[in-house]
Amino acid sequence: MSKSPIETAISPFLQTCDIDIRSPEYKVKPFVMVIFGGTGDLSMRKLLPTLLHIFKEGELPSEFAILGVARSTMDDDRYRNLVKEAIQESGEEPLEEKGWIDFSRHLFFFSADISRDESYRSICEKIEGLLGQMDRESRDVIYYLAVSPRIAPMVIQGLKRNDLCRGAFHTKIVIEKPFGRDRLSAAELNKVLTDGFEERQIYRIDHYLGKDTVQNILFFRFSNSIFEQLWNRHHIDSIQISVAETLGVENRGAYYEQSGVVRDMVQNHILQLIGMIAMEPPVGFEADYIRDEKLKVFLAFQPFNKDEIDRLMVRGQYGPGKVDGQEVCGYRGEKGVAPDSNIPTFFAGKFRIANWRWAGVPFYVRTGKRMEKRITEIAIQFKQPPLRLFGHACDTLDPNILLLTIQPEEKISLSFGVKYPHAENQIHTVNMVFSYQETFQIKYDHPYERLLIDCMKGDLTLFVREDEIETMWHIVDPIIARWENNSPERFPNYQAGTWGPVEADQLLERDGFQWITK
Ligand SMILES: NC(=O)c1ccc[n+]([C@@H]2O[C@H](COP(=O)([O-])OP(=O)(O)OC[C@H]3O[C@@H](n4cnc5c(N)ncnc54)[C@H](OP(=O)(O)O)[C@@H]3O)[C@@H](O)[C@H]2O)c1
Repeated sequence: MSKSPIETAISPFLQTCDIDIRSPEYKVKPFVMVIFGGTGDLSMRKLLPTLLHIFKEGELPSEFAILGVARSTMDDDRYRNLVKEAIQESGEEPLEEKGWIDFSRHLFFFSADISRDESYRSICEKIEGLLGQMDRESRDVIYYLAVSPRIAPMVIQGLKRNDLCRGAFHTKIVIEKPFGRDRLSAAELNKVLTDGFEERQIYRIDHYLGKDTVQNILFFRFSNSIFEQLWNRHHIDSIQISVAETLGVENRGAYYEQSGVVRDMVQNHILQLIGMIAMEPPVGFEADYIRDEKLKVFLAFQPFNKDEIDRLMVRGQYGPGKVDGQEVCGYRGEKGVAPDSNIPTFFAGKFRIANWRWAGVPFYVRTGKRMEKRITEIAIQFKQPPLRLFGHACDTLDPNILLLTIQPEEKISLSFGVKYPHAENQIHTVNMVFSYQETFQIKYDHPYERLLIDCMKGDLTLFVREDEIETMWHIVDPIIARWENNSPERFPNYQAGTWGPVEADQLLERDGFQWITK
């Protein structure tokens, strides 16, 4: 019997439901992961320690191989020693001898210049060799692009030219941020990627989305009926997101000079956080349902004209100051930074989402380097009660605030008013606090852990889709262009170790608010 149009439309989705890749029973299949840039900073400080961690947790199959690729010449043993030293130095993962020896047997190195076409043939042979030592059925290959954004398109094209995208193996490709410099370059990169791979093979990674507390935004919203009822313009006065770092640009000054705070933090992490906070309930917990809802939020961002950018967006750059009691230099004194650089290291802004749920609710965002405190927090400020019943003593009624703290402590707290004991009609604000660490005894959250496992299993939920990326650039491009075409009046304009320029406070004060995260 032929299928009805509706059955035909939903059949691909029904098929994907046969296997629940999120179920603990669904195991990662044997694979080869090729890390292009296997000796770089990201590989050594983040990827390889996380791979060791998930190996020790028993998440990896008995047969797998990790193949680091870079131009340096060395054998597998030398590479294993390098990785071991780097993991020790990073302190990201404890190194017990037994666990390390078992893991290191799966580590291999291949010296190749990935700007040369012939390298891909030899990499292919190497992969074939590694797969040949595994279960005969295994053809799963993950390409991880841990190379500079300049080289990444070259690798994708090299893989395509040599038939290594779709044909030879069952492949996936992971690509790191920054994903382009603006909408146009992101679209070009997407074109290169989708020329070689299908969208379902592409994993655009934003490590922020791998944090449990970020994923918890969705669980918290859609598993509790009490909050979701209030999650709209009728009950919420404003939403604030603060992503404050105490670090400066460290040894990445040259990279930061090409990037600045909007490309580095706002276009990706912060917009993704807003997407999760503001999205409608998805039809289901499948990757595309969630990505569809985030995309709708991005499409509803109210655009800004130049005057609005000047009025609603604040840029800053840190000067010398004191962080955690230590004297630190200003941005312009950092290695790799021009002494007269106008690159912003701080951003504050007011975004508006023009949809039914959020019309009229300001989303205030603040992020910066060398700030007073390291903290990532989302503050949801609810509207005041309609009447003040308790007389003048209660004139300073605090609003209810729901705080979702993502780092350094992962917690959720809700403030509410209670009667202060003894004194007459006095309201006192108290907090109800849930701590992830205390409740679940978590020692360390590897943000890459969940993302790597999801990629191995083929779950795209926490990876960013082509249209999301381009729409996110569309939101920030006008801000970047306005700032790049107009030099700031006074940079540096905030002292290291503070909460940023005074204009960021004034932005909220003008609307009768103040920053909640302190
Ligand atoms: N580092 C981080 O914390 C971090 C965080 C988020 C995102 N990312 C992103 O991750 C990517 C990698 O960053 P990274 O900091 O790890 O860079 P990196 O330290 O400069 O490492 C680059 C790697 O690429 C290799 N390489 C360069 N040219 C090559 C060529 N022609 N052929 C083969 N290998 C080549 C280098 O080894 P050889 O020189 O020996 O060839 C090295 O292993 C970038 O897109 C970055 O934006 C990094």
